[in-house]
Amino acid sequence: MCGIVAYIGEKEAYPIVIKGLHRLEYRGYDSAGVALINDKLNVYKCKGKVADLENFTKDKDKSGTLGMGHTRWATHGEPNDANAHPHVSQDGKITIIHNGIIENYHPLKEELIKRGHTFKSDTDTEVLVHLIEDIQKNEKTDLAEAVRIALNEVIGAYAIVVISQEEPNQLIGAKKGSPMVVGIGTDEFFIASDATPIVEFTKNVVYLEDEEIAIIRRGEELKIKTIKNKDKTPYVQELELHLEALEKGGYDHFMLKEIYEQPRSIMDSMRGRLNAKEGIVRLGGLSDYEQKMINADRFIIVACGTSWHSGLVGEYLIEDLARIPVEVEYASEFRYRNPIITEKDVVIAISQSGETADTLAAIELAKSKGATIIGICNVIGSSIPRMSHAGSYTHAGPEIGVASTKAFTSQVTVLTLMALSLGRKKGTIPESRFRQLLSELELIPSKVEKLLKANDQIEYIASLFKDSRNFLYLGRGYNFPVALEGALKLKEISYIHAEGYPAAEMKHGPIALIDEEMPVVFIATKKGAYEKVVSNIQEVKARKGKIIAIVTEGDTTVKSMADFVIEIPETEEELMPILSVIPLQLLSYHIAVMRGCNVDQPRNLAKAVTVE
Ligand code: G6P
Repeated sequence: MCGIVAYIGEKEAYPIVIKGLHRLEYRGYDSAGVALINDKLNVYKCKGKVADLENFTKDKDKSGTLGMGHTRWATHGEPNDANAHPHVSQDGKITIIHNGIIENYHPLKEELIKRGHTFKSDTDTEVLVHLIEDIQKNEKTDLAEAVRIALNEVIGAYAIVVISQEEPNQLIGAKKGSPMVVGIGTDEFFIASDATPIVEFTKNVVYLEDEEIAIIRRGEELKIKTIKNKDKTPYVQELELHLEALEKGGYDHFMLKEIYEQPRSIMDSMRGRLNAKEGIVRLGGLSDYEQKMINADRFIIVACGTSWHSGLVGEYLIEDLARIPVEVEYASEFRYRNPIITEKDVVIAISQSGETADTLAAIELAKSKGATIIGICNVIGSSIPRMSHAGSYTHAGPEIGVASTKAFTSQVTVLTLMALSLGRKKGTIPESRFRQLLSELELIPSKVEKLLKANDQIEYIASLFKDSRNFLYLGRGYNFPVALEGALKLKEISYIHAEGYPAAEMKHGPIALIDEEMPVVFIATKKGAYEKVVSNIQEVKARKGKIIAIVTEGDTTVKSMADFVIEIPETEEELMPILSVIPLQLLSYHIAVMRGCNVDQPRNLAKAVTVE
């Protein structure tokens, strides 16, 4: 979702800002813009991609050592040039970029109109910059103080950067709800929505907390204060991010690179946490809360999108291995339905970005009712881990492709470790089973490696089905969430309508859709309800549906029925989702590429959904 990048220093700001905007493209957006201050303020913005913006600014004055840029994902007002950020004040001297939503923008706007302000866009953001200007003029304050006062008047979420032609040695950033990180270089500072635009310039960063304002002046140290005017000491952290992780590294798309990274990312999720030989599983980040988890009445998993699917796998794992009741909730539904939450509940928030607005709000609610919050997130230092009592990072590394791949397998890996560790402590897993699962889990990265060799075959299958209009994905037990995830991947990036279903539910509706035009992907690996799935395959075959089946190596039964089979290595049923999802990721990827879709930045989607 919206991306923010800003620079103040001795270098020209434009190339740094544009490069930063390219790094933030993965978040998803529909327009882009920059503001630069030399002697005067220049603002350039347009609908479309950052490349369109570069084209637009080709012959323009791009000088200035103070500048900022924005990629916008439309919320208020359609994606067009006028609604793109930056927005400017009435007198054209102050400019702002914003990520988030100002909920009370309407009454503020009406008040400002009465005071003579006119607006050029439909956005909530433009109202905020006019409000800052109005305060500055009426209260005769400097810009930083006007920003502070204005932020006390707004309701909603924001990450903003404000600069003014009148104060060209100053960069102001502030945040509430939406993320913001300040990079500290030598005689230069950066502000961004996440660390990706900053990492090549400095490793020293400060993550702003909610309602903090960063006041950055040339030649001075970074100053942070709250909107209530309390000074704060900046807490400087060192980034662990590496630049190579943000590049495609020879792959055509980030998504393909990330699919291929899975042997390593799964290993990284387990590193230091699992020792099969010694029979040890340990999630260090949870140790202080493990007893509380064991004594919990139930777990409530809250998440969105792909993370919600890994939550479903988590439900199977935790109930199976640790015998703790689990509910899996869409964060957006949970927070608005007056849920029953007690102090004996443990709420697990799963999120790749750690910034998803609905998931954040759900844990805020649960926390206020006394529940213990455990975060399972990928982005280090993001909001959800910071708001949780404890948690485990997935350590999958930066995921740039909007469609989540390696984050899913890493989340499931961490949930598996969690279920095993709790089950061991509770005594709900027999020792031999525990040992067997541990040894098998250690082998998963090499099995993923092996299974990626099916890529060419999957590409061939993709070529035969790329023009299909619908797809059905069916699985049972541990493979049911995988069916949902497979369908989600396909619709996200290829725009083909796809549905995931528990295979047995097919008879209660989706079977009506089956004819010779309908490809049905079965996740039909051995163990679990395999025999039942075989019957479901027969039912589809009898209705002439086209069957693509994911099967365990050496399976001959399904092979004799299906039109195509993709073999995957054998493993324990509990660990199967980590393997069975991978061919589905590849199938979606190849279909999307063949249909000419923008795989890494699918239309209308955002990587981190920071608005509800
Ligand atoms: C967006 C992304 C999905 C992701 C979901 C939840 O919709 O496009 O890939 O699964 O948000 O995001 P999170 O960062 O909380 O896992």
